[in-house]
Amino acid sequence: MLHNAFSDAWGIEVPIFLAGMGVGGRATPPALVAAVSQAGGLGVLGCSGLSPEETRRRIREVRTLTDKPFGVDLLLPARIADAPPTRTAVREEIRARFPKHAAFVQELIRRHGLPDVKPADETVVNLEYAKSVLEVIFDERVPVFAAGLGDPDFLLERARAQGMKLIGLSGSVRNAVRQKKSGVDAIVAQGTEAGGHTGTVASLPLIPQVVDAVSPTPVLAAGGIADGRGIVAALALGAQAVWIGTAFLVADEGQLFSACKDQIVASDSEAFRISKVWTGKTVRAFHGEISQAWAESGLPTLETPHQRILMEDFLAAALAAGRHDLFYNIAGQAGGLVKARRPAKDIMAELVDGAVEQMRRLQRDLVVSLP
Ligand SMILES: Cc1cc2nc3c(=O)[nH]c(=O)nc-3n(C[C@H](O)[C@H](O)[C@H](O)COP(=O)(O)O)c2cc1C
Repeated sequence: MLHNAFSDAWGIEVPIFLAGMGVGGRATPPALVAAVSQAGGLGVLGCSGLSPEETRRRIREVRTLTDKPFGVDLLLPARIADAPPTRTAVREEIRARFPKHAAFVQELIRRHGLPDVKPADETVVNLEYAKSVLEVIFDERVPVFAAGLGDPDFLLERARAQGMKLIGLSGSVRNAVRQKKSGVDAIVAQGTEAGGHTGTVASLPLIPQVVDAVSPTPVLAAGGIADGRGIVAALALGAQAVWIGTAFLVADEGQLFSACKDQIVASDSEAFRISKVWTGKTVRAFHGEISQAWAESGLPTLETPHQRILMEDFLAAALAAGRHDLFYNIAGQAGGLVKARRPAKDIMAELVDGAVEQMRRLQRDLVVSLP
């Protein structure tokens, strides 16, 4: 019903990707990835932060659910983290160098009556860790790999040799040009509307500029797309496909906490704001009590990984108390368009049918006078 040369070349029925989303594996579990691929799109497992073993388990689970193409996404760090190698070491550094921040988070925990829980001490995510997960991705011969953040250039030769397609993500023209130089097969141009790590340029000006700058490399449009109108607009801007995150967060197959799905369904676009509270980097997420408290505290956020590990103490406490409403809820402005929780196949059907309907409407309503 809705395909183009790009979707045909990538072996999918419709040019719609489920964006790989991390969040401890909750946002894009195998059941959701497989459902999107089964429905003709391309589901991407967000494996950032997951162990190599868990990544392998998820890849294999997708394969038990579908024989359609799918992908894996990892946030590749730009460089080996300068931080000490364990969470405990980072915490000690926070206590020594940033006592006000440590005290503020303890106060947040007390204010909400949360228990004092210490999360497990695991290795901080760095390039070495990313390489060990990449080994699994190659070993499992995953058809598509998407690199959020860093450059995938060092993967190119190996990916080519086994027919793996590479996708690079970018939030600016400069980064998109860098990704093109890396030799990736497609580039996601992600506008600031998007959920997750995000830049400053909105999708409408970003996408056509990236299309011009990286041509003939295909561009996947991302950021703010949640219905057929968004898809048709993205294709009109020159994108070959769309890369959708937020609209799939409320899918029944997704494992976000119920309270988080409800926040997305109930909120207007204004509720999804950029903040450094959760990781120390600019992340668009639902603006709730916790980000509000930080804003009112006047405390500057720390750099990553310090801010992330600082907030992990809070998140562990919220989790232990079942206060999922206080949990971080990363989502984009498209949340304002998301009105109901549904199975992924219904979301896909609405996206495809909506795009087809918009194309028909344009054909009907637009009068083009040819000379
Ligand atoms: C909850 C959430 C988690 C995300 N995690 C990742 C990630 O781990 N890796 C990545 O490359 N992008 C991540 N993103 C960004 C998405 O890949 C995608 O670019 C974005 O969701 C598209 O914009 P939209 O949310 O408006 O659909 C995340 C987005 C969300 C909403």
